[in-house]
Amino acid sequence: MNHFEIRDGVMHAEGVSLEAIAAEIGTPAYVYSAATLRRHARVLREALDGHAETTDALIAFAVKANSNLSVLKVLAGEGLGADTVSEGEIRRALAAGIAPEKIVFSGVGKTDTELAFAIRTGVLEINVESAAELDRLIAVAAGLGARPDIVFRVNPRVGSGAHAKITTGAPADKFGAPVEEVMALYARAAASNHVRPVGLACHIGSQITELSPLKAAFAVLRRMTLDLRAQGFEVHRLDFGGGLGVPYFDRPGEADPVDYAAVAAEAARGLDVQLAFEPGRMIAANAGVLLTRVIHVNERPDGMRFLVLDSAMNDLMRPALYDAFHDIRPVRPREGAAGPYDVVGPVCETGDTFAKDRVLPPLEAGDLAAFMTAGAYGATMANEYNSRPLVPEVLVDGDRWAVVRARPSYDEMLAREAVAGWLIP
Ligand code: LLP
Repeated sequence: MNHFEIRDGVMHAEGVSLEAIAAEIGTPAYVYSAATLRRHARVLREALDGHAETTDALIAFAVKANSNLSVLKVLAGEGLGADTVSEGEIRRALAAGIAPEKIVFSGVGKTDTELAFAIRTGVLEINVESAAELDRLIAVAAGLGARPDIVFRVNPRVGSGAHAKITTGAPADKFGAPVEEVMALYARAAASNHVRPVGLACHIGSQITELSPLKAAFAVLRRMTLDLRAQGFEVHRLDFGGGLGVPYFDRPGEADPVDYAAVAAEAARGLDVQLAFEPGRMIAANAGVLLTRVIHVNERPDGMRFLVLDSAMNDLMRPALYDAFHDIRPVRPREGAAGPYDVVGPVCETGDTFAKDRVLPPLEAGDLAAFMTAGAYGATMANEYNSRPLVPEVLVDGDRWAVVRARPSYDEMLAREAVAGWLIP
């Protein structure tokens, strides 16, 4: 469920008309609904509260899905922590008021500097993904006289996800260490005075719409927990990662948080472990839209019809990168028959195509439209290709709204660069 609905003929985000936002700050722009963010956080929390095993689980929001400080602040207010993959993301989480004890540090290539920063910050855990990383972490921690808690990210040989580019748990994916290697690394870590192995993690992919692969991956962690304990090691935390998908089409999602919680609880039954989850998309995706304006409709004599928008692949990369589907809706629907369009942006690449032959309600030059389900992996993946200023972000909360990341002016964009001194006559 989300809070983007047509009211008095115009799409609103909660109590605010998208026309009003566009009139004030222009387009393209991301618009987020705080009520939807809160609702998604609560739905997951309530689902987890349904089982003793999952009741006190940490929900560490995957900051990569939406790293806007105001979004993180709303989620922090719901008690969420943060799953981070860079020093920048840790700094964002801290700036949004998320306590270090609720911050997980993941990622395949954390630098020594980032590891030292995470240790000094006192994050909850560092998720170690390889032998090479373990060795570097031990050296960094020794240098700081520290002993951080670590969990090992296992590659459970279960890959899932909507697209090969977002599958992370298959054997050939770069993520995590194979089961046998983690067993050996655990022993190596336990023998060190500079790390404290406390558990295991997995994350097998994103936009997962059926629970069976997650169930299989959690079962791997369960078995490893029992095996490690049988060898005398302490395992008291399991991090089940993120990955639950959302409906991008107008139909109910296949994977329900209540069923997801049941699968997680079953995997942890009787283990007496602290659980952590790292959801990104399921919290943020339906809490945001990309607001855009039709520049013109290019109707060719051969009948092809291009809907040319003022947003492009640099603002919302998902269709170009993963052939992802985003529903496109008029902000002020017109009377008339729907028809097919190729929906494109102004960037000079054929890949800058949001949809081909998409049947849409009538749209004309100057009309506003919204890409739905754009609150996750939208703004965070945006860039300034074709020297298009970085897309701004707006947060709506009831009848209030605020620009939470401003569109840079052209002067600001150019001021970030310098002409090398020797090039100036
Ligand atoms: N934890 C880890 C370690 C991750 O790598 C990810 C996502 C998550 C949690 C959150 O996954 P989620 O719950 O959002 O599925 N840019 C792609 C998605 C990439 C996901 C990468 N990892 C997209 O737009 O579909």
